[in-house]
Amino acid sequence: QELELKLEMLEKGGYEHFMLKEIFEQTRSIRDCLRGRIYPNEGRVQLGGIKEYADKLKNIDRIIIVACGTSWHAGLVGEYLIEEYARIPVEVEYASEFRYRNPIITEKDVVIAISQSGETADTMAAIQMAKERGATIFGVCNVVGASIPRLTHAGVYTHAGPEIGVASTKAFTAQVTVLTLMAFYMAQQKGTLTQAKLVELLTELDHIPEKIEKALESNALILDIAHKFKDSRNCLFLGRGSGFPVALEGALKLKEISYIHAEGYPAAEMKHGPIALIDEEMPVVVIATRNSSYEKVISNIQEVKARKGVVLAIVTEGDTEVRGMVDYCIEIPDASEAFLPLLATIPLQLLAYHIALLRGCNVDQPRNLAKSVTVE
Ligand code: G6P
Repeated sequence: QELELKLEMLEKGGYEHFMLKEIFEQTRSIRDCLRGRIYPNEGRVQLGGIKEYADKLKNIDRIIIVACGTSWHAGLVGEYLIEEYARIPVEVEYASEFRYRNPIITEKDVVIAISQSGETADTMAAIQMAKERGATIFGVCNVVGASIPRLTHAGVYTHAGPEIGVASTKAFTAQVTVLTLMAFYMAQQKGTLTQAKLVELLTELDHIPEKIEKALESNALILDIAHKFKDSRNCLFLGRGSGFPVALEGALKLKEISYIHAEGYPAAEMKHGPIALIDEEMPVVVIATRNSSYEKVISNIQEVKARKGVVLAIVTEGDTEVRGMVDYCIEIPDASEAFLPLLATIPLQLLAYHIALLRGCNVDQPRNLAKSVTVE
């Protein structure tokens, strides 16, 4: 037993928990995910796993993304990126809902199935159904050789390495990275982005791992903030655009491991319901980075403050405007809108981790949850 304990300590690489180790591994896992796939100087993306379908991608009418849990959130980021850059309509579906409807699928459709484990029963069933109806299926999986990569026609591995913590962290950012690459690859095939723009975006993407490293430097500050939030009973996460799936993922992380009830909401939808819950007891985490929806998010923060809500904002480095309005601020490095989900997720993972730990929860193995759900 002593040997087992020592082995586990070794596996955690000096970190107290797998989750923390995996959060800090993201600089490396994203670099691994990009390796050999981007050529910034040429403005070119190469995805060996789907290259046979390069021509098909020039003429597709629609993409359907199917996934569960955190992978579904990555899918929502993918929707935003593919529509923005490749101009292909995307639908994101919970695999469990999709498989029991009678969805309209044709041979012209491409289905992207996202799964860390590659074993999720509902996602597998959704793939089977779409395949029977003639769609082309791409997989975005982490575990090499798992069932889903074997069921799909083609795919792109995330290369995040083994993820042990039940709450997904590095697998999520790797999924988002792959979907970013897919969006740029499709844009390249369709010609919806100029060469110059691709050079610019890929050059920036190449440096995202360093920015992740910078974002991780807020760890000590986040622990301080976690002390203030640890006794909350509810927590609201708000974001707009690609910040919305980040809010959903932040809320999921918190509820999964700390058992605090948390909800992610599109910031503008707050006034249609959750605003009723806001009082001085209610922490509201807002993704308020400087991008196209910045001004709108600021008015949402004002709405929360007017009702005495406690606001924690994730802001762009050097921001002063939001800082002056809110209770707590965590900075992330400046980046183009395309890469914000990758950076803004980091502090939310750390926040959930520290709050859960302060509440005495088992962060690596939260109650009632399984790493991979192989039953429906
Ligand atoms: C479980 C895990 C989640 C994961 C989801 C989908 O609920 O606890 O972390 O996001 O399954 O799993 P998959 O392996 O398909 O990504």
